[in-house]
Amino acid sequence: LVVVVVVVVTAVVLSNRTDTFKATFIQECERRTPVNTSTDCVEVWSAFEQAYVGRDPCQVPPEAYDHLLSVAPPQPACNRMLFWSGTKEVAHQVSEGCYQTMEDSMLGSVLDGKTWCGKEGSNETFTSGCPGWSECVNNPVRSFWSRASAEFAAVACGDAVVLLNGSRDTPFSPTSIFGSIEVKKFTSDRMKSLTAVLVTKDNVLANCEDESLKNLQKELKPGIKYICKEVPESELLTCKNDHDQTCVPCW
Ligand code: APR
Repeated sequence: LVVVVVVVVTAVVLSNRTDTFKATFIQECERRTPVNTSTDCVEVWSAFEQAYVGRDPCQVPPEAYDHLLSVAPPQPACNRMLFWSGTKEVAHQVSEGCYQTMEDSMLGSVLDGKTWCGKEGSNETFTSGCPGWSECVNNPVRSFWSRASAEFAAVACGDAVVLLNGSRDTPFSPTSIFGSIEVKKFTSDRMKSLTAVLVTKDNVLANCEDESLKNLQKELKPGIKYICKEVPESELLTCKNDHDQTCVPCW
């Protein structure tokens, strides 16, 4: 009897875990989707879970999310696209209400900060015991951000911005998502310019002459204008505060 109870309780706990994650996903999706659009959040959920459920959590490549991205593609906001690398917190403080980051897209906002994976022989979604970011390359979380970021960058249009970390030795890292995926997806027929804002804290380790930024410039397709600016983080935040309503660029 004890064994039966343990099995039943475990089964209930496990299915609740999937149910909570699923319910939150659908609820957040609906909150983020205007009522008169064709997006069906139950369909979005199915496309999402189909990418990783029942699979070895180290064998989920970015392409597993192709269908999801076709069901819920990111909507570009020309001249208001903001990319970031090593500057997540300040990027979202600065972008709030004015610029669009990956995490402002519907899928990005639903999945930001979340962990999920499946398991071979199971139809459950697990939210713990999943591989870490670098444990294996093809894990469900990393593959999602890689695939979704590629799509987000591919539709970027007009004058775009990237906030890079000037308090790092290498502000433009070729192994980051921005450096290895997004930059390569920018197209000159859509994107007019990219402004790299080198955000610095007290310790300034890099300026616009930095070698890594030369590599960034080289990666950009001819026709995309490159601009670089060095701005202290405190200045960005004060400026954002002062111009909160008007969205005046702070660089
Ligand atoms: N280990 C753990 N987490 C990592 C690692 C790692 N080695 N690398 C990246 N991450 C996760 C973390 O959650 C981190 O906060 O990715 C986030 C972003 O990493 P960064 O190196 O700061 O930036 P980058 O890899 O360039 O990704 C940001 O990707 O989603 C897009 O549009 C978005 O432009 C943005 C870019």
